[in-house]
Amino acid sequence: MTITQHVVSTLGLGLLTALALAATCAAQQGDPSLYVGVKMCGMCHKKEESGNQLAKWEASPHAKAFEKLGSSEAKEVAKKLGIDDPQKSGKCLKCHSTAYHWTEQIATEKIRPEDGVTCESCHGPGKNYMKRAVMEDRKLCIENGMVYPATKSCVLCHNEQSPTWKPDRYTTKDGKKVGFDVEQAFKKIEHPDPLVKK
Ligand code: HEC
Ligand code: HEC
Ligand code: HEC
Ligand code: HEC
Repeated sequence: MTITQHVVSTLGLGLLTALALAATCAAQQGDPSLYVGVKMCGMCHKKEESGNQLAKWEASPHAKAFEKLGSSEAKEVAKKLGIDDPQKSGKCLKCHSTAYHWTEQIATEKIRPEDGVTCESCHGPGKNYMKRAVMEDRKLCIENGMVYPATKSCVLCHNEQSPTWKPDRYTTKDGKKVGFDVEQAFKKIEHPDPLVKK
């Protein structure tokens, strides 16, 4: 019996479908040609009446994630790991940029490492969902590659593989110390759109 047959017989088709779907999503996110870059998203998402997500992102630590890799603090962290220049190392860009995060390529034209952790790091690559008619329909967005809810993306970077991970950075409501608490963390970077139905 092959492993696949074994999995089918023990787990049933439901899980296998789920696995296949997950693989399709991952393949989509890893395709550099599907990324449009923060400038493109920003073209429609900088109006005050719909929440100006661009400005909120620009003011967030994610927009500075690449810059941060140039700090003396970052260089010290890197040195201990035998890395010369954190701004050039995939070991750091993996979580401090958008391009490398999904594609394992240092640079593509549209998603430059310099832009840091952009919209598409969390919402998924936008080429297929960024048309107005799609954007206004959440179901269509998801069918066209939008990660929803985007809170699913946080732990891809906010995890103990981060060399500056602090296991007690957050304190939960019941007093437990944790390295990341999605609810509290999202409050710090939220950028709601009053035109979007909950
Ligand atoms: C052509 C204009 C346009 C572009 C480009 C665009 N959007 Fe949108 N987006 C919209 C509109 C219109 C809505 C509906 C809400 C509104 O009117 O503000 C929307 C809604 C959204 C939503 C909410 C979806 C939901 O149902 O919860 C997200 C998230 C989003 N956009 C992210 C992005 C990202 C990320 C990019 C870049 C990859 C992007 N958008 C590019 C116009 C655009
Ligand atoms: C697994 C993802 C990941 C990798 C890989 C990673 N980082 Fe980070 N880094 C983060 C996250 C997430 C934060 C925000 C703080 C936190 O919650 O851990 C951060 C924050 C930082 C900070 C700010 C310190 C702080 O406590 O906020 C520095 C400096 C830094 N990283 C340097 C580096 C360097 C240098 C490398 C490569 C050797 C690297 N990082 C690799 C995810 C990562
Ligand atoms: C660090 C991750 C992250 C980044 C970066 C990010 N977003 Fe979001 N965004 C979220 C999460 C999480 C939500 C809440 C809805 C959800 O879970 O999908 C959200 C909500 C939104 C909404 C409103 C949808 C709603 O339900 O109210 C819009 C529009 C949006 N983002 C657009 C953008 C744009 C445009 C950018 C870049 C300029 C951007 N986001 C950057 C994670 C992110
Ligand atoms: C592609 C990797 C990546 C993803 C995905 C990501 N982050 Fe981050 N985040 C970072 C990095 C890197 C930093 C540190 C940036 C710096 O210090 O300049 C950071 C910093 C932060 C900070 C400031 C440090 C702190 O804990 O107070 C918050 C808050 C945060 N992220 C929330 C979120 C939330 C919420 C999500 C999911 C909706 C998310 N992030 C998704 C990489 C990521």
